[in-house]
Amino acid sequence: MNRAVLPRHHDSPTYPLGVAFQVVGGNRLSGTVRVPGAKNSILKLMAAALLAQGPTTLTEVPDILDVTIMAELLRRLGCEVVQDREAGTVVIDVPAAPGHQADYDLVRQMRASICVLGPLVARVGQADVALPGGDAIGSRGLDMHVNGLTRLGAEVSSEHGFLIAKAGQLHGASIWLDFPSVGATENLLMAAVLAKGTTVIDNAAREPEIIDICTMLVEMGATIDGIGSSTLEIEGVESLTPVTHRTVPDRIVAGTWAVAAVMTQGDITIDQGNSRHLEIALDKLVSSGAMVELLPEGFRVSMDRRPKAVDIVTLPYPGFATDLQPQFIALNAIGEGAAMVTENLFEARFRFVNELTRLGADVHTDGHHALVRGRPRLSGAPVEATDVRAGAGLVLAGLVAEGTTTVHEVHHIDRGYAGFVESLQGLGAQISRVD
Ligand code: UD1
Repeated sequence: MNRAVLPRHHDSPTYPLGVAFQVVGGNRLSGTVRVPGAKNSILKLMAAALLAQGPTTLTEVPDILDVTIMAELLRRLGCEVVQDREAGTVVIDVPAAPGHQADYDLVRQMRASICVLGPLVARVGQADVALPGGDAIGSRGLDMHVNGLTRLGAEVSSEHGFLIAKAGQLHGASIWLDFPSVGATENLLMAAVLAKGTTVIDNAAREPEIIDICTMLVEMGATIDGIGSSTLEIEGVESLTPVTHRTVPDRIVAGTWAVAAVMTQGDITIDQGNSRHLEIALDKLVSSGAMVELLPEGFRVSMDRRPKAVDIVTLPYPGFATDLQPQFIALNAIGEGAAMVTENLFEARFRFVNELTRLGADVHTDGHHALVRGRPRLSGAPVEATDVRAGAGLVLAGLVAEGTTTVHEVHHIDRGYAGFVESLQGLGAQISRVD
């Protein structure tokens, strides 16, 4: 990733410059780790701030690179953004007339930048967002965003690598999503809250992060019915007011620590982990032989034997999260027996399997299935993180592999996990960041 594009602001990040993590396997992890706010929520909450003029304050903000990229994107739209990394807060002061362009240098670093599309077209009447992969309109990936915005009265076109949406006044509409897309649900929701009249989004996504953004929008003055269900009914309002909002805890980070406890036969208390957001994943860990204890402020996962391999099938929430799939493949790689992993959301997620096999894992993929035959031991080797969750899965495998595993391209991990190395060190892992 080219970090040079991020200008130096007084609160710009000072992420450690190391490019790889070196893990020496064999340590049992134990202790307590605190879960910050969710990456997949905070980016959308920051975009939602655009809907109201004035200062929005977000708390429990994770100290991750993606937040810095989103902050920069908002600054270029004319917002004043101050991040207090110690306190875990971001204050976004939105001007009366924000800009409307999200440039390629930022969008290419973070696909989630697309979430400014809905709020900008609703608030400013225009959004020019660089296309993440140069996809043409209507191609897989953004078709539901585009179709939904068109239903709401926007004119959407694609020019010079930008997706351009324009609207005088958006109007309410009935929208049926082909698939409960998280990003499309969020964009359409953020557009509909300022549209004239009633919008119904059917087959909407119902991830905890969607509930979080709905909650913030209601606090801002929006009218939304059916929150948490697959039918959202939104009654548009004329304007919204800025609020202070606490980000929902990161269920994927919590789930990653839970898998770490099981793989290392450890005992980890996951403070602020919300077990209700992880029901299937925790149930799978229990099937693998783990003990899960619910606590008032989180949960505890412990393990005293080699885990059993467990079948998983990824699906939209409340199904098993695709963002935990690589971590469970890593678990299955050292599990007793064999397991079938079915990926229904992102086939490219199996790319990391090639890296895992470098550690000695026995995994065969065929389309969207991966057959994992557990091995009693893995052996350390250099590997490369292909995305944020794949990176986490490789580190987990390194924690139990014999010898040293060096995970390269860890900027992917830094995008989604705040203080990843420090948290693992605190739990007793032998891991360090190296150049
Ligand atoms: C979000 C999460 C990501 C998570 C995913 C699924 C963020 C920043 N990212 O991604 O971590 O893995 O939800 O839980 O919140 N699709 C289309 N057309 C569209 C929109 C989506 O075909 O218009 C397809 C995608 O190609 C993909 C599937 O639908 O195959 C799921 O995508 P979606 O739910 O939109 O995921 P994201 O919001 O991109």
